[in-house]
Amino acid sequence: MKLFLDTANIEQIREVAALGILDGVTTNPTLMSKEKGNYRESLKEICDIVRGPVSAEVVAEGSEEMVLQARDLAKISEHIVIKIPLIAEGLKAVRVLSAEDVKTNVTLCFSANQGILAAKAGATYLSPFIGRIDDVGQPGMDLIADLIEIFENYAFATQIIVASVRHPLHVLEAARLGADVVTVPHKVMMQMLKHPLTDVGIEKFNEDWKKVISR
Ligand code: G3P
Repeated sequence: MKLFLDTANIEQIREVAALGILDGVTTNPTLMSKEKGNYRESLKEICDIVRGPVSAEVVAEGSEEMVLQARDLAKISEHIVIKIPLIAEGLKAVRVLSAEDVKTNVTLCFSANQGILAAKAGATYLSPFIGRIDDVGQPGMDLIADLIEIFENYAFATQIIVASVRHPLHVLEAARLGADVVTVPHKVMMQMLKHPLTDVGIEKFNEDWKKVISR
């Protein structure tokens, strides 16, 4: 399972990259809006830190404009993956970009049927938003299970990025299902790392070690 960080915050990305467990980063216009500075320079910096897939989203209504924006974003770094919304114009853009070997991450996926269309268009990645599905009272993780089954049935190459993750249980369930990638907010990454019994255990070992070295 690959672990991506779902943020555009450079400090958070540096911190997690330093742990040696970071495979990639996903951004979106909302996440970019929370950070200061020029977005192209920020994306370049993120790519230089991560040296793995970094998703940057196009914002356009028509496929031609999406493709132009995508080509421009792809110039920033070889690591850039173009995030494209799951609408008809988006699928057209994915087909064009896939023929040009530009990597894509089709985003805002809320149904298995949408996912099938993205895979058939040649998406490199697909991002189902499970937290937002949970928010409307439906089990988001069921969509991941459906997509994994369908993609396996037809050997679709599109990788599933479990997105809109809200808590560590989402990561655990996605891993048990065998999802290709989970993109997690920094807070969830830290929650995955921490366990109160680990902290209590370290404290006790430190105390006991003092007794050993003071002998
Ligand atoms: O990767 C998609 C993610 O950023 C959306 O998360 O929490 O806004 O639903 P959220």
